Amino acid sequence: MSNETNQPARVSVFDTTLRDGEQAPGFSMTTRDKLVLGRALADMGVDVMEAGFAAASPGDLEAVRAVASEIEGPTICSLSRATEGDLDAAAKALEPARRSRVHIFLGTSPTHREAKLKLSRDQVLERIDFAVGYASKLFDEVEFSAEDALRTERDFLVEAFERAAAAGAVVLNVPDTVGFTTPDEIYDVFKMLSEKVKVADGVIFSAHCHDDLGMAVANTVSAVRAGARQIECAINGIGERAGNCSLEEAVMALATRKDVFNVETGIDTRKLYPASRLLSRLTRNPVPRNKAIVGKNAFAHEAGIHQHGMLADRRTYEIMNPEDVGQPSSSLVLGKHSGKHAIQERAKALGYELDQTALDAIFPEFKAVADQCREVTDEQLMQLIGGNAVSSKKASPWKLRRVELRAAYGSRTEPFARIELDHDERGRVCDVGIGGGPLDAAFDAIQSIVGITASVQELDITHVADQDEGACLGYIELKVDGRTYSGRARGRDVIPTAVDAYVVAINQALSSAESGKREKADAA
Ligand code: KIV
Ligand code: ZN
Repeated sequence: MSNETNQPARVSVFDTTLRDGEQAPGFSMTTRDKLVLGRALADMGVDVMEAGFAAASPGDLEAVRAVASEIEGPTICSLSRATEGDLDAAAKALEPARRSRVHIFLGTSPTHREAKLKLSRDQVLERIDFAVGYASKLFDEVEFSAEDALRTERDFLVEAFERAAAAGAVVLNVPDTVGFTTPDEIYDVFKMLSEKVKVADGVIFSAHCHDDLGMAVANTVSAVRAGARQIECAINGIGERAGNCSLEEAVMALATRKDVFNVETGIDTRKLYPASRLLSRLTRNPVPRNKAIVGKNAFAHEAGIHQHGMLADRRTYEIMNPEDVGQPSSSLVLGKHSGKHAIQERAKALGYELDQTALDAIFPEFKAVADQCREVTDEQLMQLIGGNAVSSKKASPWKLRRVELRAAYGSRTEPFARIELDHDERGRVCDVGIGGGPLDAAFDAIQSIVGITASVQELDITHVADQDEGACLGYIELKVDGRTYSGRARGRDVIPTAVDAYVVAINQALSSAESGKREKADAA
């Protein structure tokens, strides 16, 4: 919705990853986790950070207090029921905050009033008067949520919000607690509320949508179109049951379709992907490949026609730049749908120049490998290329020959690995490594053989159960001297596949260092 001057309106981003997100099964976080993620959220530019529910447990109170004392930038918020005890706990937790907000919720729908609270409409209104009034003296800002708002009688919703605003609430949050509404319906509700609820200047409406029917993001942006000036969301869309509105999706929808929404947020979108990965690592929940914005496939292309289009001009199949959301870059995954252009590009990245004759020579076998293996790894492509390249920068000097591991769980001895690598010029080299786990030990040994230091950014092993051979696909991302290199491999077992992928990525790093040296020498 545009304002009178047609200047984009500012929409606040209220992040609830550390509260609604954290309260979902499988996503609980320690105080340390909340601090680590909280810093990333602050750095990303969220306006409000809901750090927890102080009255829920002493641990939650301590976590909210730690976030309030250590994190600068956003307003720090605690959830609270409409009771004196909860509000006092929130006040204690938020005492160190530079700017504090309490988020009071109270069920307003008939189901919540009758089945859960056993309160009449009047009693609900009295509770709102009391709680919001009491909170106004304790916090910088008070937000009031009419829990289950979308299933509340419309006249009562108007009354409840008017009472909350009169008692001092500056944000009126409209939660679709059970993910029941639709984009058209929520649009009408927000329009109706903006027209009917009498509030002072500066009081805003906020949307809080759950994803039970997969419409949380659509509903949230529809509420924005109808005038919502705060959106409540969570990284990776985590939250109760099917989750909350995904922060990265809503923010990118508003940014990419500014022509439709004409609003701005304060989010630095380049921080979205790193925050998503961080959350995934902290809670040990992988992000699905096909997840919008932050999934591995969000900017990956396998189909030949798409790859051809992408190589000509990426706008043919991408509406956003991966760099704008912090994804490393678009990737062309080699598989049975890939065409010759993509093979040539990948080979080039690996250091091989393939002319048309070389491409024609390897193409039938490439398709056969792709049919059998689904994804053609860098190692497999290099084997196919063999002697067919017109020129090669010796892109892969190292090959994994043997991995031996010892990791006795429960014993005091540190995991140990012995690695044998074959080198184009140096021949066979072996070394041993130790580490926190067997893979760490193997990586340690490889680093001492090749003489570079690499840190693992991501390691993803997929087990393909329906094939007899080579049932694991490995993908690794390494950071070497501030640059990221990736490697893919395929094998029968998890550990050698991971180690193989590591060697592929190390070869890439070496080849890039080598071409850097060559470019310098050519320039001199
Ligand atoms: O979904 C919900 O209703 C909530 C409230 C506490 C706002 O999370
Ligand atoms: Zn919620």
